[in-house]
Amino acid sequence: MEYQQEWDSINAVVYAESIEEKNKFYTKWAATYDDDLAGVDSVGNQNMIKLAFKYIRNEASCLMLDVAAGTGRTAKFYKDTGYKGQIDAIEMNAAMLDIAIKKGLYRKTYCFTITDDGPLPVVDDTYDVVTVAAAFTTNHLPQGCIRYMVKALKSRGVMIFNSRKTEGNAEYQKILFGHLDDMVKASKIVLLKKEEITYYGKPCKETGKPMPGFVFVYRKL
Ligand SMILES: C[S@@+](CC[C@H](N)C(=O)[O-])C[C@H]1O[C@@H](n2cnc3c(N)ncnc32)[C@H](O)[C@@H]1O
Repeated sequence: MEYQQEWDSINAVVYAESIEEKNKFYTKWAATYDDDLAGVDSVGNQNMIKLAFKYIRNEASCLMLDVAAGTGRTAKFYKDTGYKGQIDAIEMNAAMLDIAIKKGLYRKTYCFTITDDGPLPVVDDTYDVVTVAAAFTTNHLPQGCIRYMVKALKSRGVMIFNSRKTEGNAEYQKILFGHLDDMVKASKIVLLKKEEITYYGKPCKETGKPMPGFVFVYRKL
């Protein structure tokens, strides 16, 4: 398969046996992560961000939280696409976050592991936008944490995230969608947009073709 080394790294974290193994791999991978993702045409973030601009209030006072921020690729794409506001970041892996900090894109950063049953290290009702790229997948963000992301949003704030559309991610997503549906039924959030996008442009092992993904946009009520 083309781009074998890049896919091996991506698959090493997605299919890791444990969170500890995944975290160790991110530490080893951090220095070449951006180049490897560019190599396989990882356009899921750009496609999410293009859509995001239809829903965010793009002003200097807009405050965004980038969850599972990695090396800051998401913040970089937002800024490069003309985002005028400020961005805070939460990221578990210190090596990845260190690279993100050096890009000088964030107002505040939190090196923090998000769990299913604990609040985020930020004040509730603070953010106009919560965004998550490439972290709603197996072995990454626990699905229940989506409730705490909604808490971090101001009323009328928007949550924008993407997720790969593969068979291997379907079980994980079922639980995620369950939490989202519960919050919709409880009138805490409303779905504004669900759109299929290209996630990786190069053929992947999961589909033998470019990998599809979804972008979701929810508003907090
Ligand atoms: C595939 S990378 C995506 C990074 C960035 N959002 C991007 O699009 O390039 C996933 C990131 O999520 C972080 N992560 C995974 N699980 C996490 C958790 N439970 N809490 C905080 N960060 C987590 C990883 O350390 C990694 O940097």
